[in-house]
This record gives sequence, structure tokens and C-alpha cells, in this order.
Amino acid sequence: MSGQTGLRIVLVGAPGAGKGTQASRISERYGIPHISTGDIFRAEVAAKTELGAKAKGFIDAGELVPDEIVTGMVEKRLGEPDAAGGFLLDGYPRTRAQAEAFDQDFGGHAVDMVVALNVDEEEVVSRMSGRQVCSDIDCGTVFQESSNPPITDGICDSCGSALVRRDDDQPPAILRRIEEFRQKTEPVITYYRDGGSLVDVDGSGCIDDVAERIFAAIDAAKA
Ligand code: AP5
Ligand code: MG
Repeated sequence: MSGQTGLRIVLVGAPGAGKGTQASRISERYGIPHISTGDIFRAEVAAKTELGAKAKGFIDAGELVPDEIVTGMVEKRLGEPDAAGGFLLDGYPRTRAQAEAFDQDFGGHAVDMVVALNVDEEEVVSRMSGRQVCSDIDCGTVFQESSNPPITDGICDSCGSALVRRDDDQPPAILRRIEEFRQKTEPVITYYRDGGSLVDVDGSGCIDDVAERIFAAIDAAKA
């Protein structure tokens, strides 16, 4: 993987911070593939694969999937041709061990920039509690009952499939995911901050305003 070129960005933030929502916009603007480990796991669960079966219990409980499962899966995905010209990673790395394994794969320097999307906890709980996602796993468009509703109730604007709640958007799993973020992912943010590649972006406010802040941060870091 060390022969890769192009912009390599990691998007990090609490569950429900808006990573997936913003990742689609970033991916389109900079022409890099959006790679979400959560989306890959949900596709594996839906397809009833062995990997999906291993991950499902952890995901539904709001716990992180063990590092050895995640790291191999990401290495395989980043080896695909579309990732050779850069990528936007959403939801990886999420533990210090994942961040170190990732850097090792790229000869010590895996990413050009890490964008930390900062939203307070009360707001992320509220966002996740009203989240609706497209049931077609290949579409996966995300909505929110009050801040980002679909045009027609219960129907995906993009593909017309039914909207559903995610299994891990129930209160006990939401709280567990936030706890996992505090304990295991905040140290990853510190790791990148100390390494000088992290930029902080305020993730509060409307989706378009957050996107503009992210674009400005990426353009400034690229310049
Ligand atoms: P994953 O799918 O990555 O979930 P997550 O990190 O908990 O993040 P979410 O997808 O819930 O939130 P998001 O930040 O993408 O927000 P969104 O844009 O949807 O991971 C799921 C699970 O997989 C993990 O718990 C773990 O088990 C496993 N896993 C994945 N990666 C792993 C790894 N590396 N290691 C180990 N295990 C791993 O937005 C949320 C809602 O808010 C939406 O309804 C949206 O419409 C709305 N919204 C977005 N922006 C705004 C805004 N500005 N204002 C108002 N509403 C907004
Ligand atoms: Mg997401």
C-alpha cells in the first residue's frame, strides 16, 4: 500500500457527529472514495457472511469490533484499485492499536490529514435518536427526523426504498458507543494531534455550514 498517491484523509468524531453525512460531500468534492468501516460491517451483516456474523454482536451492543478483525478488513479494502488515488476513511482508526497498525502499513505515515468533527454529547444523542437510514445497503442515505427529514415520510429521497432505524441506535447501545468513543477513540485523536496532522472542525450547526468549515480546513491544510 505504500505506493499510493493522492489525498488521504481520516474523519474522526463521536458516534452521531455527522461523519457519514459529511463524508459523502467530501468524497464528491475531492474525488476520493468514502470508506466507512461501519458501512462495510453493516453490508457484511446484511449479506450474512462469516465476517458479519463475527461483528454483529459487538455492533448491536455498541462495542467496538476487535482490532484484529477490523485491521485486516481495512487493509483488504485499501488494497482495491479505487483507493490507490487517495481515500476518505470514516470510522477507522478508532483505537490506538488500529492507528499504529495503519501507520505501519504505510511505512510510518498513513494519512495527510485527520479531520476531527467536534459535537457535544447531548447533540449527538439527539441526532442519533432521530436518525433514519435507507434500508437499501448499497444506497445507505442518512436522514434525521427533525434536522434532515426525507421529502416523503419513511421513503428514501435518493432511491425510493423504505427508511429504517439502525439496530445500534437504541438508548443502551448509544450510551455504550459514546463510552467506547471516550475510552478508546479519544486517545487516537491525541495520537494524531501530537503528530501534527489533526485539524479540529466545529460540527455543530446546519449540515451545509459544517461542510463549508470542513472544506476550508482541508483546503488550508492542502495549501
Ligand atoms: P459506525 O457506523 O462508524 O458508527 P459511529 O461511529 O457510531 O458513527 P455513526 O455512523 O453513528 O455517526 P456518524 O458520525 O456517521 O453520523 P451521521 O452522519 O450518520 O460504526 C458502527 C459500529 O461498527 C461501531 O459501533 C463498531 O461496533 C463497529 N466499528 C466500525 N468501525 C470500527 C472500528 N474501526 N473498530 C472497531 N469497531 C468498528 O449523522 C447522525 C445523524 O445526525 C443523522 O441522522 C444525520 O442526518 C444527522 N446529522 C448529521 N449532521 C447533522 C447536523 N449538522 N445537524 C443536525 N443533524 C445532523
Ligand atoms: Mg456513520
